[in-house]
Amino acid sequence: MSGNMTTIKTVGVIGAGQMGNGIAHVCALAGYDVLLGDADAARIDAALETIKKNMTRQVHREVITQADMDAGVKRIKGAPKVGDFAPCDLVIESIVEQDDAKKKVFADLRSTLKPTAILASNTSSISITRLAATTDRPDKFIGIHFMNPAPVMKLVELIRGLATSQETYDTSVAFVESLSKTIANAEDFPAFIVNRVLVPMINEAIYTLYEGVGSVDAIDKAMKLGANHPMGPLELADFIGLDTCLSIMQVLYEGLADSKYRPCPLLVKYVEAGWLGRKTQRGFYDYRTDPPTPTR
Ligand SMILES: NC(=O)c1ccc[n+]([C@@H]2O[C@H](COP(=O)([O-])OP(=O)(O)OC[C@H]3O[C@@H](n4cnc5c(N)ncnc54)[C@H](O)[C@@H]3O)[C@@H](O)[C@H]2O)c1
Repeated sequence: MSGNMTTIKTVGVIGAGQMGNGIAHVCALAGYDVLLGDADAARIDAALETIKKNMTRQVHREVITQADMDAGVKRIKGAPKVGDFAPCDLVIESIVEQDDAKKKVFADLRSTLKPTAILASNTSSISITRLAATTDRPDKFIGIHFMNPAPVMKLVELIRGLATSQETYDTSVAFVESLSKTIANAEDFPAFIVNRVLVPMINEAIYTLYEGVGSVDAIDKAMKLGANHPMGPLELADFIGLDTCLSIMQVLYEGLADSKYRPCPLLVKYVEAGWLGRKTQRGFYDYRTDPPTPTR
């Protein structure tokens, strides 16, 4: 361990949605004190409940012990105000996938954070270099991209912006390894590695539906049984969130200026309807029924 590495004790997680609660969960079980924030205070309470529910499931499956859970739950505190993040050594932003909203969060943190604190984004696709440039600490800014669901998925992509220092990178490597995750290094290009490959595949599945090549059922069955994917692409889109899928396609389309990344109009329509997948109970499937019913 290099002498210049920041010691991380307290981790802030901003955005208590599906990713934020998973990241808080993983950090708390690894022994970090966690401060969890969201613009919507009700989302913080909901996330704390989700974390308890998910840890209980891990106890039942004997992945963790009841004592691990009790200690983990105690380490997570809600942080509804920006000033609450003052003790953080690392803050991981995991709010909605929108450039301006993320930049505002970093700007708001300016007067609160210690000079040594590292800032990270869990963005799926937005340029780390660009986000970093709007902060007061581009050298202490990095992409730490967890996969969904964070407590289960082993991979974390680490993305260095142009200005990210070696110390920030080394500290982040040690931090991610302390969570028992495996790192894939990705260069800072739109959507990095996993989503550059995965989300255009999902978008193509939506085109396949849009053009009437197959039904929701047929497309998911074909990819599960024909390509051995554990989930069909439409089921996976609902799981990721259709708004997030659309944002990633827009970043690819604009960032790489290549028409092959154009978002499918049907994906746009679902997002405009507010049918965002599992998180809103409806997307390519309707989750209000058991089993979920295809919506096309
Ligand atoms: N969904 C995935 O599979 C996945 C995987 C990896 C990374 N990500 C990335 O993680 C981030 C969050 O995605 P998610 O799926 O958790 O979304 P989500 O919609 O479940 O949660 C987003 C949360 O951010 C909050 N929020 C919005 N604006 C805010 C602001 N200005 N300040 C504080 N909180 C704010 C919302 O209230 C909400 O609780 C995105 O950048 C996304 O690209 C998503």
